[in-house]
Amino acid sequence: MHSATAISFPNIAFIKYWGNRDECLRLPANGSISMNLEGLETHTKVTWDKLRVTSNGLPGIDSLTINGQSITGAGLQRVAAFLDLIRQMAEIKARAAVVSQNNFPAGAGIASSASAFASLALAATKAAGLDLSEVELSCLARRGSGSACRSIPGGFVEWHPGAGDNDSFAVSIAPPEYWPLADCIAVVSAKHKTTGSTQGHALAGSSRLQAARLDDAPRRLDICRRAILSRDLEAFAQIVELDSNLLHAVMMTSNPPLFYWQPATLTVMQAVRTWRAAGLPVCYTIDAGPNVHVITEAVEAARVADLVGSIPGVQKVLVAPVGGPAKLVE
Ligand code: PMV
Repeated sequence: MHSATAISFPNIAFIKYWGNRDECLRLPANGSISMNLEGLETHTKVTWDKLRVTSNGLPGIDSLTINGQSITGAGLQRVAAFLDLIRQMAEIKARAAVVSQNNFPAGAGIASSASAFASLALAATKAAGLDLSEVELSCLARRGSGSACRSIPGGFVEWHPGAGDNDSFAVSIAPPEYWPLADCIAVVSAKHKTTGSTQGHALAGSSRLQAARLDDAPRRLDICRRAILSRDLEAFAQIVELDSNLLHAVMMTSNPPLFYWQPATLTVMQAVRTWRAAGLPVCYTIDAGPNVHVITEAVEAARVADLVGSIPGVQKVLVAPVGGPAKLVE
């Protein structure tokens, strides 16, 4: 088969990944836990033009189209470097045409690199005739974007940092139906962030707080994993908010400092804490951007989405239940 199509979901981390031990291999400084976000989908088709070495042995140029727009420059280079890994594994020199679509609104401020590289890893290896295991695919997706390794398995997922390229991968710790949660994403700004996560990871070590954050990571991972497995929302809420606050403390104290929040980000955080104190099962978590992920039980999602949407400064709310693994489609 020279062509294959895959879909995958982005994920939201409850215990965050920030900082690499090895920037090139994207070996994380700490383990992380996330859930996939159903309904926000990346659909990627890869076609290798020839699976044989051409007479001049040149691989040609890969092409990349995202949401109907042809991508060149740094975006294409990042994808071409990723495709080089697959060319090496499959021992081919063909070039690839990559056509990708996100069904979530463009510019919603939702990181799409996780689902982008997860679906690309699956489609491109299958189209090249490789049949990788879930672990091998997760390791490969990680090379494109660290968090992409967590969009390969389904449901609630843990990324074990590992010691090297072949043992830094993510596994499912519980399937999507195990705990029906939902993420109500408060979109506060749809603008593209000025400092992407690749640059952000490189700055993490410049904060004096990063060492303390890393030191305490095994404890937070343990509490979070146990809270998920026992479906304990109160314990889960405490550790997820603490982890998000620690991440942003590191960001704000790195050199140069990174401030991702907008005023409305803090308004949502405070509202969530008030609602929880009043008995609503909610907590917040924030990635490298101003949007607030409000995690709740799926049965409360409509009510929570309405509440979040009524906060001044919130432009729209996207609701995503727990998603499955990356998969091939016809
Ligand atoms: O995978 P990257 O390089 O986009 O980094 C993701 C960083 C955070 O979203 C802030 C945290 C995480 O674990 O997803």
